[in-house]
Amino acid sequence: MLCKQCKLHKENKKNFPNHVAIIMDGNGRWAKKRNKIRTFGHKEGFKAVKRTIKFALQNKIEILTLYTFSKENWKRPKLEVQSLLKIFLFALKSEIYYLKKYNICLKVIGDLTSFNNELQSYIHYVEKITFSNTGLILNIAANYSGKWDILQGVKKILTAIQKGYLNINQIEENTFSQYLSTHQLSPVDLVIRTGGEKRISNFFLWQIAYSELYFTDVLWPDFNSYIFQEAIDYFSTRNRTFGGLVQDEKKI
Ligand code: IPE
Ligand code: IPE
Ligand code: MG
Repeated sequence: MLCKQCKLHKENKKNFPNHVAIIMDGNGRWAKKRNKIRTFGHKEGFKAVKRTIKFALQNKIEILTLYTFSKENWKRPKLEVQSLLKIFLFALKSEIYYLKKYNICLKVIGDLTSFNNELQSYIHYVEKITFSNTGLILNIAANYSGKWDILQGVKKILTAIQKGYLNINQIEENTFSQYLSTHQLSPVDLVIRTGGEKRISNFFLWQIAYSELYFTDVLWPDFNSYIFQEAIDYFSTRNRTFGGLVQDEKKI
């Protein structure tokens, strides 16, 4: 039997986001409120990640992008960075069974060269074994930044021009999109940011030109299916005109 949301999704696909991207913020404050160290909040944040993936699967969201570590997050104390990377590796190792069972295809975008060999090889391994899965694309943005993505795209496109594969006059928006780390993914429909800040923090830049944005004060470890549903309900009320007009206004 289809759940209420799945039915809604099937009946009204155009008002349902295919690609949801989340800026998972607020772990540190969540821990501080409980007189715990920040790492405690990151561990609890991993539980919220699992809940979020479950919701995405149940609701047949096609792509879920999670912003887990920004290029700027290296500025944090060494111990915190180490523990974040440890949680990432632990999550990859411990969730392989779940990824297989629920037919999830894992992708990781970002500058992976800064990670140690073990983490890099594990990422490539999990990407490889889940490559053909079709249940959900789980796209993890790790050591990612929107500016980095645009720059690496520019470098790649310049190399293609230098080698004669591409002519400068052929570069359209769609062509350039093919050189970004998100080239295999459909456009981002909805961005959710938890933790109360109303900023993008160098997450997707090019990719969110026409995304709907949903901000909540809820701290990431408290994120749950109700809040996810609220964000989707908000999305479904938006008129996405992409610079055009809604159907009724066109008649005038
Ligand atoms: C988000 O939570 C997790 C990462 C940035 C890795 P924070 O660690 O930024 O938590 P706050 O914003 O300080 O509460
Ligand atoms: C954004 O959170 C990055 C991630 C969630 C991975 P930050 O806590 O790093 O962002 P700022 O510093 O508040 O902008
Ligand atoms: Mg933060």
